[in-house]
Amino acid sequence: MAKIICITNQKGGVGKTTTAVNVSYYLAKSKFRVLLIDIDPQGNSTSGLGIDKSTLKKSMTELMVDQASFSEIIVKTKYKNLDLAPTTPELSNAEVEMTKLDSRFTILKKRLKFIQDSYDYIIIDSPPSLSLLTVNAMISSNFLLLPVQTEFYALEGVAQLLESMKLVKKVNPDLKLLGVVATMFDRRTSLSTRVLAEIQKYFKSKVFETVIPRNVRIAEAPSHAVPVGDYDHFSKGARAYRDLTKEIIERTKGQK
Ligand SMILES: Nc1ncnc2c1ncn2[C@@H]1O[C@H](COP(=O)(O)OP(=O)(O)O)[C@@H](O)[C@H]1O
Ligand SMILES: [Mg+2]
Repeated sequence: MAKIICITNQKGGVGKTTTAVNVSYYLAKSKFRVLLIDIDPQGNSTSGLGIDKSTLKKSMTELMVDQASFSEIIVKTKYKNLDLAPTTPELSNAEVEMTKLDSRFTILKKRLKFIQDSYDYIIIDSPPSLSLLTVNAMISSNFLLLPVQTEFYALEGVAQLLESMKLVKKVNPDLKLLGVVATMFDRRTSLSTRVLAEIQKYFKSKVFETVIPRNVRIAEAPSHAVPVGDYDHFSKGARAYRDLTKEIIERTKGQK
């Protein structure tokens, strides 16, 4: 049965999507069967893997209001072992519709049951909010992975996120914090170093050893609609995501 990892942080621009796309890519490269679920109406994971949203008949937008199943929406990517459940911008309207459903908190979990055996890892890229979509993602997951940007205000909102996690654990006792990954680290600035130390002090052993550097190749890759590992395999950014993926495989080994 798939290990389900929700990548979350209600702050925008901290590296959620970048982490989701690149970890999914390297897990698939390591021969795991991977499904990346894009549950952010911005759809950056969808476009980041080269899927044209205008060609989609059904997507997470329909699935989240009970009008599609995963088998109807999953698309293959150009990478072996890597599938995508894409989204469209209309998912934000669907979220309003969802509030009327009895199953509004558990719809994703229910749908996942049908496909969980077909994958080794399911990665969920969530929106920058603690909305109904994010709660659905958390309720469906075994693990949370929290990217934190090594910038000022990095830990702002983290207490609130951990509070939501506590609430979700009442309905999903399985949920664990897999780890915290420091992103966009710039070793030339003392601020980055100071914030990294602060993150380590707060989360201790939960912080992954791999730190994701600020790297221009990572920023360029989405404009070519590919993961950085495909864009420039030898870049520092690609190497960092490869190392992070190894740590994720280690940490999830033998756990469910
Ligand atoms: N390590 C990095 N180095 C340089 N740019 C990055 C890095 N990580 C993310 N970015 C860029 O920063 C922006 C925000 O990242 P993204 O992953 O989309 O954040 P989120 O999903 O949390 O909103 C994107 O333009 C992305 O390409
Ligand atoms: Mg994003």
